[in-house]
Amino acid sequence: MFLRDHWYVAALTSELTTKPISRQLLGEHVAMYRNVSGQVVAIADHCPHRGYPLSLGTVVGDNLVCGYHGFTFDCTGTCVAVPGQERIPSRADVRSYPLVEQGAWVWIWMGKSAPDMDALPKLKWFTETNNWSAVAGVAKIDAQFEYLVDNLLDLSHETFLHNGSIGTPEVATTPIEVETDEENNVVRVYRHMNSVDCPPFYSRTTGLEGKIDRWQDIEYFAPGFYMLHARIAPVGQPPLPDGSDDHAFHMKIFYGLTPATETQVYDFWALSRDFCVGDGEIDEFLIKMQTNVVQEDVDALNILQIRAAGIPEVTEVSVKIDKGGLAARRVLQSMVEAAN
Ligand code: FES
Ligand SMILES: [Fe+2]
Repeated sequence: MFLRDHWYVAALTSELTTKPISRQLLGEHVAMYRNVSGQVVAIADHCPHRGYPLSLGTVVGDNLVCGYHGFTFDCTGTCVAVPGQERIPSRADVRSYPLVEQGAWVWIWMGKSAPDMDALPKLKWFTETNNWSAVAGVAKIDAQFEYLVDNLLDLSHETFLHNGSIGTPEVATTPIEVETDEENNVVRVYRHMNSVDCPPFYSRTTGLEGKIDRWQDIEYFAPGFYMLHARIAPVGQPPLPDGSDDHAFHMKIFYGLTPATETQVYDFWALSRDFCVGDGEIDEFLIKMQTNVVQEDVDALNILQIRAAGIPEVTEVSVKIDKGGLAARRVLQSMVEAAN
């Protein structure tokens, strides 16, 4: 079952134009587009007339015209015109979904209840473009949502699965600390790698050489949003007591985890950094690097799903590195129980 009363990432901002796209989210087919006023719209991707996908229709002004016989819908999903008659059947409306555009991502609310605006993550790292530069992308994984949660909550896999790019030996050997905020359904995983070699990308872009302190602090806001706070600093210089940290370099790595079906999940990602701001070459480099990293995860999770489908019962042996993933599973389980 899906946890519906939450915000999920539905699309990259760059994907929504006046040419509609179709995306299955939480099991439902959704048509998304941008009307000529610039507003982003999500409605059920199913024409009530004969079931043709509305995403194959055409945006005309602020409306979407079905590509089969021309039923026409406004951005609230209300049918405003049918061909050949004045009267519009009352059952011809389709469901619309609240969307919020925020920097690189567009969020959707698919719950039956009213959207909880307070629960929407506020991502200043997307919107404060003077101080932060962001790049973003998306991949679809043919594996269940839970596998992606496991993958992101345990970064020790970087050392092995991503050993050609972001993985260094310390990621797997440094102990983690895990905290669970049960009231707010947040899992935090701290991994502080002190006095370790500076990865080449960071030495090239920050000017730091030799040994550095490299922190990876995860915050997983179950079910659909994940932030990794990467901090690169000279050895032995933590943030100041007032929280300021101007002597360090920061990269925020965001993931939107959005189930498509019970066995497929969208992996929306974004990287935002406070160094080399506005540098297009660094943007290009990061897009290429992260696309490769995500593809390595996609390939691994696709294989897990295929293997799991072929055996009657999946058994697991959990160890210390799994503490974050296990905490996330407990939080998700309690959310499912509370939603029932
Ligand atoms: S199926 Fe859409 S108008 Fe007929
Ligand atoms: Fe990974």
